[in-house]
This record gives sequence, structure tokens and C-alpha cells, in this order.
Amino acid sequence: MKIGIAADHGGFALKQIIQPYLVSLAHEIVDFGAYEHNDLDDYPDFVAPLAKAVSAKEIDRGIAVCGSGVGAAIVANKVKGVRASLITDYFSAHQGVEDDDMNLLCLGGRITGPSVAKELVRSFLDAKFSGGEKYVRRLNKIIALESC
Ligand code: RB5
Repeated sequence: MKIGIAADHGGFALKQIIQPYLVSLAHEIVDFGAYEHNDLDDYPDFVAPLAKAVSAKEIDRGIAVCGSGVGAAIVANKVKGVRASLITDYFSAHQGVEDDDMNLLCLGGRITGPSVAKELVRSFLDAKFSGGEKYVRRLNKIIALESC
């Protein structure tokens, strides 16, 4: 898959670990920055371009990392067509895709350690939307909200 990744200073160290892990899984990576650690950078500057690329289907899925993962999720969900969530557990990492068609995973670089983060990323990327009738119905209700 073509995977986009983005992080601010709070997520930079974890992004540096996730990126080679994605390469080891044979994914194609698009890096939306930050490209260096800068305590003064702002997560919307990296997460918004990532989310727009997901929305435009230029990439298949996105991974955004900030300190808590909260800000990244808030920004990403502002972009039409993006379904982002802060994930800290294995179950939600795959169930969020299977039931809710989550297309952007948010992680907290100050919350989730490297080994757990790798498992969450793998679980997210291995999962597929089930396409079940009730899930499509719910998704359509979410899509309707995007034009409010
Ligand atoms: C940055 O210090 C921090 O506020 C940010 O990375 C993130 O945690 C926001 O949700």
C-alpha cells in the first residue's frame, strides 16, 4: 500500500521508528514531515497535507503522530473523506477499519511505545473494511454530515 506519515515534534521520534518499519513491510511511504525535530513546529502543518492526500486518494492510508495523538485526530477529521482516530489498543486498530472504514491512524508519541505502535500500525494496515450493510449505512450517515 501507499502510506503517508506525518508528525510534529511530539511524534517525531516515533515517526522515525514507524517509517523504516513500514518499509520493512514493503509499503511505499510518502513522508509529509516533519523532517527534523523542531520544538516550535505545529501539528496542523503536517497532518492537514497528509489528510488531504488521503481524501484525494493520492495515498491509501495515513498515519499521524503528535504528542498525544489528539491534535492529529482533530485536524485530520476536519478534512472531508477522512476518518481518523486516536488508537491505543490492538482491537480498535483493526476494528476501526473493519467497521468504520478508518483511513487515518493517529498515535501519541508520548503515550504509545515503539513496540506497541508497530503492532497497532500493522493491525491497522492489515485490516479491511467489511462492507457489511449496517456499516455502509452508518458510513453513509457520516458522509451526509460532511455536506452540512
Ligand atoms: C505538542 O507539544 C503537543 O501539544 C502536540 O504534539 C499534541 O500532543 C497535540 O495534540
